[in-house]
Amino acid sequence: MRTFDCVLVTGGAGFIGSNFIRYLLSREEFQGKVVNLDALTYAGNLESLTDVQAAYGGERYVFIRADICDRAAVEGVFAEHAPDAVVHFAAESHVDRSVIAPADFVRTNVLGTCTVLDAASRAWNGRQAVLFHHVSTDEVYGTLGPTGAFTEETAYDPRSPYSASKAASDHLVMAWHASYDLPVTLSSCSNNYGPYQFPEKLVPLMILNMLENKLLPVYGDGKNIRDWLYVEDHASAVWKIVTEGRIGQKYNVGGGNQWENIRLVRALCAEVANQTGVGASDLEKRITFVKDRPGHDRRYAIDSSKIRKELGWRPSVSLEEGLERTVRWYRENAAWVDHVRTGAYAEWISKNYGER
Ligand code: NAD
Ligand code: TYD
Repeated sequence: MRTFDCVLVTGGAGFIGSNFIRYLLSREEFQGKVVNLDALTYAGNLESLTDVQAAYGGERYVFIRADICDRAAVEGVFAEHAPDAVVHFAAESHVDRSVIAPADFVRTNVLGTCTVLDAASRAWNGRQAVLFHHVSTDEVYGTLGPTGAFTEETAYDPRSPYSASKAASDHLVMAWHASYDLPVTLSSCSNNYGPYQFPEKLVPLMILNMLENKLLPVYGDGKNIRDWLYVEDHASAVWKIVTEGRIGQKYNVGGGNQWENIRLVRALCAEVANQTGVGASDLEKRITFVKDRPGHDRRYAIDSSKIRKELGWRPSVSLEEGLERTVRWYRENAAWVDHVRTGAYAEWISKNYGER
């Protein structure tokens, strides 16, 4: 098992990054420092780490506000903190946004990843007891028909500006391994859900709209399939790969929960009903089929047998349990929700979606 003294986490103020930092600092086997580098875009929020800051701030947890495209800033972090691992989450992450504003995705996901890779390989200068882990998505593989699942050998076929930019970043990571001998690992994960997810994504959007008596917008016929994974299980998979994965390898990560969107929305209606006493059928009446997303990938399914067999990883939270926890979390964290929905995020939603 590899050990590290200082882990640089990019995008640690976002949904998965903040959950990963919390998970990492709770691991007994990790006694090092975490440096969180994040630009705090609309999707980054330090309130997602208030508990981490209080428990570990200063000695074991440091936050640096910087853009991953800012070469001098990223090199400065390597010079000051000398991280021996990078876990790279920072990205523009929402497919719908990428269709509206693709250049932001190319800038951060492609140019930003190149900048962090370059800074790491220059700072490490051939050292091998270091690691660059890249967090990617199953969306790089494109869309599936009615059968089959993505394996690590599936050819890349990205279809949205988001997935195309993530595919490009994956290729850069593998190119840095081949060309500069940079020790890398890569994970391609399915759809995550759980606490601290931004309300533009399906699960929190639906929960909040249910709690706020709004319509529940389901794209197209609602039969698109996603493979859902609770965010803490993604965090444990990333840490497993960082500490035990084979260098130069890619691992698919998924929960084995391939559900049609409409089934998931109905399950959320049932869970919200269960927790609030509102009738599930009253909630379901608010389901509204709306105009489909352009190029909407029909089905994702992940074959995660490689990480399960090689590294012994498996998810620990069932979809039912995860949805129960997630609904509870959004009900109990209204202040966090209010804060993330103000400012740049609110402006974007009203400009692009009107009342939602
Ligand atoms: P998120 O949008 O919630 O968070 C992204 C974070 O990156 C934010 O804190 C933001 O401030 C930061 N960031 C954005 N641009 C930056 C820049 N130029 N410089 C520095 N920081 C910047 O995203 P997420 O859902 O937590 O996803 C994290 C990573 O996991 C992404 O790389 C994404 O592609 C990948 N991923 C996400 C999912 C999912 O279901 N959400 C699934 C698989 C993989
Ligand atoms: P999303 O959470 O945006 O994740 P991704 O696009 O990365 O899979 O969407 C998940 C699924 O839910 C996707 O098939 C699109 C669909 N969806 C809706 O039907 N309505 C919505 O309002 C949103 C945001 C998504």
